[in-house]
Amino acid sequence: MSEPEPEQLSVHDVVGSDFFAELVERFYAGVEQDELLRPMYPNDLAGAKARLAMFLVQYWGGPTTYSDHRGHPRLRMRHAPFAVDIAARDAWLRHMLAALRETAESRETPEIVLDAVEDYFVRSADFMRNVEEAASP
Ligand code: HEM
Repeated sequence: MSEPEPEQLSVHDVVGSDFFAELVERFYAGVEQDELLRPMYPNDLAGAKARLAMFLVQYWGGPTTYSDHRGHPRLRMRHAPFAVDIAARDAWLRHMLAALRETAESRETPEIVLDAVEDYFVRSADFMRNVEEAASP
């Protein structure tokens, strides 16, 4: 008989949905104060908060409520209406990484989880860029 597979814990198993709710609240508190990003978002941020939180919960192994409501994420396509240039990417990422560190600190999140989520945001924010620019650092 073969050995049983070890249980695989997802990030969501470790941190729970509340982690992402807090992260998204903190992130949008930053966006609300940002002159470049704020005008890109709807006046009422409630829907944007719910969509981002549902997406992150799903991405990190929690319930698939995002896709049940929105279908396949297709995030690059969904960002096409917004001009995501280097400045927008940097502003978005700055707010998200600050929110992530605050949330992880307030919840004593394991370092390995924090590193994985941080890496993901750095790579994905760049992937969302959709404006050709001469020099791309
Ligand atoms: C790690 C990178 C990113 C992730 C995971 C992400 C995720 C998302 C998600 C899940 C939505 C909602 C999609 C939907 O179901 O309609 C969304 C919307 C949006 N994102 Fe991003 N995004 C990223 C980067 C960016 C960047 C760099 C910008 C820069 C401007 C940006 C601006 C927006 C805007 C303006 C919306 C519309 C708000 C709304 O949902 O009504 N995003 N994003």
